[in-house]
Amino acid sequence: MSGHMADKAVDRLTVDEAEAELARLAKLLDAANTAYHTEDSPDLSDADYDAAKRRNADIEARFPDLKRADSPSDQVGAAPAEGFGKVRHAVRMMSLANAFEDGDVRDFANRVRSYLNLTPDAPLAFTAEPKIDGLSLSLRYEQGRLVQAATRGDGEVGENVTANARTIDDIPEEIAGAPEVVEIRGEVYMSHADFAALNERQAERGGKTFANPRNAAAGSLRQLDAEITRSRPLKFFAYSWGELTEPLADSQSGAIDRMADMGFQTNPLTRRCTSVAEMLDHYRLIEDQRATLGYDIDGVVYKVDDLALQTRLGSRSTTPRWAMAHKFPAELAWTRLEAIDIQVGRTGALSPVARLTPVTVGGVVVSNATLHNEDYIAGRDNRGEEIRGGKDIRVGDWVQVYRAGDVIPKVADVDLAKRPDDAAPYVFPDECPECGSAAVREEGDSVRRCTGGLICPAQAVEKLKHFVSRAAFDIEGLGAKQVEMFYGDETLPIREPAEIFTLANRDAAQLAKLKNRDGFGDKSATNLFAAIDEKRRIPLNRLIFALGIRHVGEVAAADLARHFTSWDAFVAAVDAAAPAAKRHLRAEEAIVQERRRAAQEGRRASISAVTKAAWEAEVLPQGAKAAWDDLVGIDGIGAAVAVSLVTTLQQPAERASIDRLVAELDVQDVAAPATSDSPVAGKTVVFTGTLEKMTRAEAKARAEALGAKVAGSVSAKTDLLVAGPGAGSKAKKAADLGIETLDEDGWLALIGG
Ligand code: IVH
Repeated sequence: MSGHMADKAVDRLTVDEAEAELARLAKLLDAANTAYHTEDSPDLSDADYDAAKRRNADIEARFPDLKRADSPSDQVGAAPAEGFGKVRHAVRMMSLANAFEDGDVRDFANRVRSYLNLTPDAPLAFTAEPKIDGLSLSLRYEQGRLVQAATRGDGEVGENVTANARTIDDIPEEIAGAPEVVEIRGEVYMSHADFAALNERQAERGGKTFANPRNAAAGSLRQLDAEITRSRPLKFFAYSWGELTEPLADSQSGAIDRMADMGFQTNPLTRRCTSVAEMLDHYRLIEDQRATLGYDIDGVVYKVDDLALQTRLGSRSTTPRWAMAHKFPAELAWTRLEAIDIQVGRTGALSPVARLTPVTVGGVVVSNATLHNEDYIAGRDNRGEEIRGGKDIRVGDWVQVYRAGDVIPKVADVDLAKRPDDAAPYVFPDECPECGSAAVREEGDSVRRCTGGLICPAQAVEKLKHFVSRAAFDIEGLGAKQVEMFYGDETLPIREPAEIFTLANRDAAQLAKLKNRDGFGDKSATNLFAAIDEKRRIPLNRLIFALGIRHVGEVAAADLARHFTSWDAFVAAVDAAAPAAKRHLRAEEAIVQERRRAAQEGRRASISAVTKAAWEAEVLPQGAKAAWDDLVGIDGIGAAVAVSLVTTLQQPAERASIDRLVAELDVQDVAAPATSDSPVAGKTVVFTGTLEKMTRAEAKARAEALGAKVAGSVSAKTDLLVAGPGAGSKAKKAADLGIETLDEDGWLALIGG
């Protein structure tokens, strides 16, 4: 490779050059890793190593299709000395949407039908199988040999537990008759008998005992010493797959049979059902057998049987549209409510937590449970209507606690017959228990919030915890526990996200301070700084999510990042929309007041009059309306998100804190999705009217997969309107704005059928 190409700017590389360059970098970095980790003699300077890694990542970002199987971006050096190596899943490991009632299952089947445009009587089969309560594992086989086992992790990156998986009897080392590359996925679990025996052994030896079989399975698989895993009796059921070089079958049930032929255990209670009634029958049958199965299950999983239909249905951000988990009813127990504590969250919400006399609920000891909010304690729902027959909850009460799956236990009911005579109604605080600021409840909000903002230590700590969480900055070695420790630290405090990075702009004196602290040796301090530095380069969507802005979850953050592509554009757009957002808020406020006045005066509220007045009272600066329309026109971004963005970014102290953070970062633009050879890539498309060949949801998913942005309303930024029969005002607006309009067939022709 000539030195010339190694210097060529990434955005000027041709496809062939990029491919050659990725090969060169893979080789270079691999050699450097080996030298560094195994021979203790680094042959590249740290700066050159980082530069090579960065260049590699930049090329991959521009040419995602060229990313190599042995890409250096997926290698975190050799396995770190502490913890497991990380594995990026070739195909994301999904989770499942939940159903709790028969009606939810019918809705699921109907949703599938309507997405696929199937009539109610067209044949549609589902598989139904137990949902094993263990932990999922992905097993990669190449040429029939097990080469890697990885936990689910966050779905994208898991832990490399290959050595441990090899000790499990149900996991074959070699499989016959399999595609060249196949990833078999399933659940690692422990039987009740093995769990009881393990806990007994542990107790005898004074070791750690486990709360339930799932924790025991997880604790046993995630052992750094594979010999410990070997001594723990783990089992494995196969039910799914990841990357494949050829399909296993053309149906889910066929694929399960194929996995059984390869030598995997598959669940004997798996059935193919051709109606919802059959699915529900099978659910009852599994529920009846639950107690005698000998291992924990927490529901039944339904999957569309036809794999071609699964492909058409595709996925939402973390769950497939073609599958659903039907959970068993929650488990219940009664216990005493000893106290009610108030926790303050990152958006200032005051959440009441029940402190309980410990009680076992479905195998887990519960001593805390959520009480939701002040209305819930008082016996009302958020519309002011009675719940629990209007019974309130008091300290000292005998309460019913339940647990549904992984979620936090909840207090469901109260036994008035056992109420102590001196129990007093609970008075919800109107001051923040952490900072003393007023805690106010806004009209229409079920939650009381601390108004202390950045001065409230509880909000600040929760914001930091959110900031370092998995889907946000995910800094190795800096989790919730460390954040709390650093927050309270006098000499080396981290009070806001920017200080995480200024901490890593360390000088020798700071380093020395860190190294002398509890729990931080020389090595862990150095590792922490390296882990922090590594995250200075952060994709825009993660940054937006990490800010912890109310209403801005992972999906909204990704939508915003995709729309604005760069941090500067995003901030400029929110700033530009600010006057319109403020007007929107004032109009809402006027509506609330008008409603109240009307109720007092016993007349009907005249909403349109007050809205009009609020609108006319203000002249917006140039461009504000367009910026607002653009923001709320992003599919999935509503007025609540837009207002929340404006409120946060326009708050001077918040903004200054965010600016300090961004100054420390190298924010990665989010490119329009990579299928850039499609004529619709990067275009903003609006669908309106009736589509006949596919449903609206399917059309949207297809368009997005091709790199288009799908908006809900027509604006000057719209590139294309796809109008089916019955299109109304949007078609007119598009015509007025001179926007290209296609019918459904025209659209299909454009995107290639
Ligand atoms: S299918 C793409 N089938 O449940 C669909 N999952 O709540 C992937 N699980 O992470 C999952 N039994 O760990 C599937 N028979 C089963 C399952 C199952 C247990 C777990 C799995 C998954 C979680 C989602």
